Amino acid sequence: MASVVRTKRTKSAFVTLLGCLLLSYVYAQEDNEEYKGKYLGKLNPYHHQVSGDVWAVDQYTLLLTSFNYDGNGADTFFWAGASNRPGPQGFIVPDEWGKTNILDRYFNRDFTLTLPDNKKITDIKWFAVYDLQSQNTFGDVYIPEEFDPPAPQKISQLSKRSHNVSSGPIVILDSKTISIPQFVYDGQSADTYFWVGLGPQPSSKGHKVPDEYGYMDSLRMYNDEDVMLQLPGDMTVFDVDWLSVFDVKTKSNYGSVIIPDGLNVPPSLIKVIKQTQSLPNCVQLHKRYQVAWEIFGPQITIQLIGQVAEDEYMAFGLSGSEDSSRMEGADVAVAYMDDTRGYTTDYNITAKAPCGKVLGQYKGVCRDELLGGLDSNQLYTAVRENGINIITYRRTLVSSDPGDKDFPVDKPVYVVWALGRLDKTNNEPSFHDLYPRSDVALELNRQEAENTCIDFTESSGKFSQKEPWQKTEIFDRSVRTFKATIGPSGGRRGYQGITGKPSVGLAWYIEGALIPELYLRRGLTYSFRVHGGNNPHSANLYHPLIITDEPHGGYDTLSDLAQSKIRVLAGIELTRRGRPRPTAVGPLCLSKHNGRDRRLDDTFPSFKKFNRTLVQICEPGDGDTLIVSPNSSWPDLVYYHSFTHSNMGWKIHVIDSYTRSSANIAHKLSLLITITTVLFHLL
Ligand SMILES: *[C@@H]1O[C@H](CO)[C@@H](O)[C@H](O)[C@H]1NC(C)=O
Ligand SMILES: *[C@@H]1O[C@H](CO)[C@@H](O)[C@H](O)[C@H]1NC(C)=O
Ligand SMILES: *[C@@H]1O[C@H](CO)[C@@H](O)[C@H](O)[C@H]1NC(C)=O
Ligand SMILES: *[C@@H]1O[C@H](CO)[C@@H](O)[C@H](O)[C@H]1NC(C)=O
Repeated sequence: MASVVRTKRTKSAFVTLLGCLLLSYVYAQEDNEEYKGKYLGKLNPYHHQVSGDVWAVDQYTLLLTSFNYDGNGADTFFWAGASNRPGPQGFIVPDEWGKTNILDRYFNRDFTLTLPDNKKITDIKWFAVYDLQSQNTFGDVYIPEEFDPPAPQKISQLSKRSHNVSSGPIVILDSKTISIPQFVYDGQSADTYFWVGLGPQPSSKGHKVPDEYGYMDSLRMYNDEDVMLQLPGDMTVFDVDWLSVFDVKTKSNYGSVIIPDGLNVPPSLIKVIKQTQSLPNCVQLHKRYQVAWEIFGPQITIQLIGQVAEDEYMAFGLSGSEDSSRMEGADVAVAYMDDTRGYTTDYNITAKAPCGKVLGQYKGVCRDELLGGLDSNQLYTAVRENGINIITYRRTLVSSDPGDKDFPVDKPVYVVWALGRLDKTNNEPSFHDLYPRSDVALELNRQEAENTCIDFTESSGKFSQKEPWQKTEIFDRSVRTFKATIGPSGGRRGYQGITGKPSVGLAWYIEGALIPELYLRRGLTYSFRVHGGNNPHSANLYHPLIITDEPHGGYDTLSDLAQSKIRVLAGIELTRRGRPRPTAVGPLCLSKHNGRDRRLDDTFPSFKKFNRTLVQICEPGDGDTLIVSPNSSWPDLVYYHSFTHSNMGWKIHVIDSYTRSSANIAHKLSLLITITTVLFHLL
């Protein structure tokens, strides 16, 4: 591919660049450097060892590479202006941190500078390192007349061929990012992907592009959605001729677009994280997750490689079913780092719920050791570097623990995988955020090793950062009764985003709202009508309501010692034998996804819109009512929870009066403004 890339780029250089610019471009090519935007030139070096290259990233942004300056000027700044040559008439260009401080020393640095006040590169004639006091230019570069800075380019729309594929005009946002507005596809084909490649028209010789959520699975149905794709690894739009919705099995193109040569688009500037693979087989499970392995004698060595946060786990293992990828019954390793130590704990999944006791028996996602089994995984190495966890472990193909599953070497085997957050209070996995959308079968003992893994790219929130849903408060003196039901926790913008805590997948809905903050006045009496499920045999749908003084919840799963440290304010009594027993239980009232894929929860801009897609099913009957009368002994902040699972409820503010002092409101307002501003900056 590399040689093809080069000819393509050189061609685009001929089309778009002239004279001396071309020379430097070719120079860049020979260095095999990545695309950095449109080249403006070398800084003319006059004083203080100023040197470096300057590129236009987009209309407003310059990229400096290999920049040097000895830092010895007295009053020296990045300086730009529209006069004929650098002089006192100009303005300061803030440094790479957005600051207008006097410049320090730079040694061989790469960074971007954004012109202030929405000024454009086409508004200036020169950019300089300039000393205001001595009015001396230390280095400068000139912007050519008629300069055309890189910008997102609108190209054609997807051709309509079959399976209802269509879109609006596609926009190349930068050298790695493609936006497909109003994308439609019926989702009716089993082996169909976003697919890119070289040549006059789409063919099976191409590369899969992870979907907008990073999944490598066959595409789902899209109904008029705006989709953002990032080309994998170090691939750029200059490396491909077309983008297609392509069925790999039947080699059919359902709709495609030609990506023109020589696009003058911004560079992506996202860093590619190169990695050497040590095991012969590797499969990309998700854009952020790879599994590599080797079978040697009676043992299998497995390496899990994930671009995860420090508090995230990677799970991988054998499916609970012989003919599909199923979580229930699966035998998995949960791998994570705790500071510098790695873990690959052996788990048994008996229900889609965090491990908990159901009538005295452990059920859910439980450690084998808790069930009387053995931890059969032998941790080999564990490192975290560049935001990537690489954890290697070994297991015998046939385990000595009869509860484990065997790794077959004579046929493909269905596997399951997941990424999610750890509950850091006990290092147990909470609900997974990412997990396979379709069945995944691996042939472990292949004749020829297969490696389909791609390089990770530094994650960037530039186009994808999503703020949490707006939180709800119930601050109303007339509301004394609350109906408490159960519903989905709503992805990263829901429970996780609002509370900052990991989620078990379900959460309390109070008066139809996802985990509102409640305000209860001391001296008044309130009742909670509890509809959290009353079947104690259920591993995930038995939720008595309790109120305690700590934010974690899941009282029943805690040790006696941990329980003794918690102040229970309502919902638990002691049996005659001194065991805690919930007092407020009621028939289940559950909001459900109704077949919709919960991995798309983050696409909803608000809880209200999300809630509209749920269906609520309530079992008949009235439940218990939890009566609470906060008094002067209650702290100002308490929490409602499920008795059985942690991280399902949220805050109750205990107040002395329902009048909000104006100071308080002003404070909240300013806080809100700060939060909004921060979010805007993230976007
Ligand atoms: C394709 O679109 C047409 C019109 O929009 C619709 O009637 C038809 O059901 C769609 N077909 C599939 C397979 O979704
Ligand atoms: C895992 O759970 C299943 C079903 O309850 C059981 O048959 C198996 O023995 C368990 N494995 C271990 C290691 O406890
Ligand atoms: C959510 O939907 C349910 C019906 O399913 C409705 O009763 C409730 O009021 C809705 N909540 C909000 C906050 O709109
Ligand atoms: C205050 O509330 C707590 C917890 O509900 C209760 O145990 C206690 O008896 C109450 N105190 C008074 C004086 O009512």
